[in-house]
Amino acid sequence: MTHAADTISPGQVAERGRRALLHEPAGGDPGKLTLVRARGSLVWDDQGREYIDCTAQAWSNNLGANDPRVIAAAEAQLHRITHARPTFHTPVLLELAEAVVAVAPDGLDRVGFTLHGSMAVEMAFKLALRNRPGAQHIITLQDAYHGRSLATMAASWPHPNNVFGPLQPRFTRVARPDLYRPRAGLTPEADADLCLGLLRDTIDKGIDGEVAAIVYEPIQGNGGHNEYPDNWHRGLRQLCDEYGILLIADEVQTGFGRTGTMWACQYYGIEPDMIVFGKGVGGGFPLAGVLAKAEHARFVAGDDQLTFGQFPVAMAAGLATVRAILADDLPARAAEHGHYATRRLLDMQQRHPLIGDVRCPGLMVSLELVRDRQTKEPAPQETTEVFRRALERGVILGESRYGGRGNLIKVKPPLDIERDQLARALDVLEDVIGEVEKEFAR
Ligand SMILES: Cc1ncc(COP(=O)(O)O)c(C=O)c1O
Repeated sequence: MTHAADTISPGQVAERGRRALLHEPAGGDPGKLTLVRARGSLVWDDQGREYIDCTAQAWSNNLGANDPRVIAAAEAQLHRITHARPTFHTPVLLELAEAVVAVAPDGLDRVGFTLHGSMAVEMAFKLALRNRPGAQHIITLQDAYHGRSLATMAASWPHPNNVFGPLQPRFTRVARPDLYRPRAGLTPEADADLCLGLLRDTIDKGIDGEVAAIVYEPIQGNGGHNEYPDNWHRGLRQLCDEYGILLIADEVQTGFGRTGTMWACQYYGIEPDMIVFGKGVGGGFPLAGVLAKAEHARFVAGDDQLTFGQFPVAMAAGLATVRAILADDLPARAAEHGHYATRRLLDMQQRHPLIGDVRCPGLMVSLELVRDRQTKEPAPQETTEVFRRALERGVILGESRYGGRGNLIKVKPPLDIERDQLARALDVLEDVIGEVEKEFAR
């Protein structure tokens, strides 16, 4: 049988893509590969080149790519039933629901599913409004990223090319504290207190009507890997309790083990009213959803039904993935690998002034590259060059192109990456950082 990859010569890919596809490549040209195969933490392009994938394909393959347990479960489901509209339950839907609730933080006992993180965030917004009838507002944080549907794009940081405004709802974006760049003269904790005060002012004086929910990522991912001091998490919970606002944690990126615990909420001691999940739960298949409290009203028929929202094949893959995450104790693997990677990166930081900051936890690892450690001036060109050179040597690093400063390198491979693969990726990273430092010093 001829494989599609055999019929497209590498030189034709960009041209054929331009002619046939509606979408420009995400992330631009550097690093645009045509991938034909994946296994674990490795991917192969159409020229047979092998890469260590430190992006886990948008931080989604928490369990390495094409895990045989996931493939077998999806395959078996293919022969049972591939599609059931939301009017009907399937056994796999109920099994998955029970499995996800079983690994959820205490008190989050109900779950709803959909296919994409963006739609899951919208599901959480709808559930918040269903539970706070009359409330008309949802608060999000500056530099947040919650997706690319019309609503979630509006709930994220302002996209520079956004022409979709006329059809987008309005969200109120509030200031957030910054661990690496707290406001002038403040400690991160004082910065968090200041932001909590500003948030209170916004609720009291800046919004007409009631606020249904505050949504935030426990660690902002696409907005620049921004972690928060503990008093921010605590303060948000207190404020929500005081005002009767629902607290939604968007764990699409941090959930299912990435931070070294099953949920980032557990790592930071956050007690949200809802958790949004996605990415890592599907084992490479599209799957996302919302965990909520049993005390909250459920959706009524018609509130939230999508034809393929409860796709049995993705659910079977998800069920196998959740079982594999538990069987292999992937949160513990993420914590171990994360310690190792962070130790090595902190060690590199001693030798390389370009590394301004090293961030974790678990395998949510990144570096901020700066031209000057004192001023923390971002180094975006150097970052692109580090990314490009690593790619040439067979390592796909993550980059931040979104609301951040374009100077973030991310090392977020599958949580079950082999240790020697992780070590090799870090070796390459150090080599190319050294080269780029020399080149830009000239
Ligand atoms: C925190 C967060 N929320 C939501 C989303 C949207 O997920 P999806 O791209 O599956 O719609 C993302 C995707 O990067 C994300 O990082």
